[in-house]
Amino acid sequence: MKILVAGGAGYIGSHTVKELIQEGFELVVFDNFSTGKKELLVGGELVVGDLMDLESIREVLRSKNIEAVLHFASLIQVGESYKDPQKYYTHNLISSLNLLAAMLESEVNNFIFSSSAAVYGEPQEIPIPESHPLNPINPYGCTKFFIEKILQDYERAYGLKFISLRYFNAAGSDPGGRLGEMHEPETHLIPNILLFLLGKKKSFDLFGTDFPTEDGAAVRDYIHVTDLAKAHVLALKKLLTSSQSDFINLGANKGYSVLEIIKKTEEVTGKKIVYREKPKREGDVPVLLASKEKAEKILGWKLYHSDIETIIETAWNWHQKTGNPPKSSAEK
Ligand code: UFG
Repeated sequence: MKILVAGGAGYIGSHTVKELIQEGFELVVFDNFSTGKKELLVGGELVVGDLMDLESIREVLRSKNIEAVLHFASLIQVGESYKDPQKYYTHNLISSLNLLAAMLESEVNNFIFSSSAAVYGEPQEIPIPESHPLNPINPYGCTKFFIEKILQDYERAYGLKFISLRYFNAAGSDPGGRLGEMHEPETHLIPNILLFLLGKKKSFDLFGTDFPTEDGAAVRDYIHVTDLAKAHVLALKKLLTSSQSDFINLGANKGYSVLEIIKKTEEVTGKKIVYREKPKREGDVPVLLASKEKAEKILGWKLYHSDIETIIETAWNWHQKTGNPPKSSAEK
């Protein structure tokens, strides 16, 4: 029996592929390389295909003896989703519906879903437990929220079993140096600072200086991508043995403001960061901080790389080593 990894050539998908292979799983990686990268593939059988095309994913599930599916393939930019909601609703929902349709048809009932802290919206309680009300405030978060609802209905009606993993802020790079973050355009905080320090971006902007936080900058919960990847292996094993559907936060339960990240990055790199102060981005909330109790209890999850220095150091090693990003997107 094999595991299908949809979006296995992306940032979090590729780190998870690496961990799954290390654990002895046999993989089929399905990716259209719209945002994924060939150089981030470390193994598994590759099928190049698009989840928007039901036939191509149907064929994989019919022919490959798949036992479970991990679904990473998604559009992920909050800001873009605000400007072009149709793109997000169409892509994220239809691709997920196609994947689930193909699974049900081939009687593949185990699903690990890449959800997001964006399903919670403005937190009413910090740290955020999984029982927190769901009230997404941007179209990206809404797509994740809707898919979670669909999963619950499919479980009730068709017996689908799933674990929905709600990521907080994935960051850092494979400590082995083989994998790392390569978004085009890059919108995330830590890579943007590092690309600026490497002269690959002309400027670095701090978005939002008047949030109701201690220093006025937004606070996020940064989780190392390798710890995130390991949580997927644990969730898959849990699902295959217990057949219990669940929703689980993946965060470090430590908050850093953008200004604190700037300071830590100066310490790690030994370089001064000059920034421009800009208004907050549409759809950004002041604070996101995860309760990780459930992940520890249900999955036995432990963090090995998620101290902020390791996150920044591994990302810095990766960005110094790679030519990321390609010239076309370097100035975006
Ligand atoms: N930021 C800057 N400058 C930049 C980039 C980001 O100041 O160049 C700020 C943002 O405004 C935000 C913080 O840094 O306040 C973190 O921004 P990221 O883009 O790194 O991450 P987000 O919290 O916006 O988004 C991440 C994921 C989303 C997910 C969200 C909530 O990328 O997919 O967390 O879980 F929805």
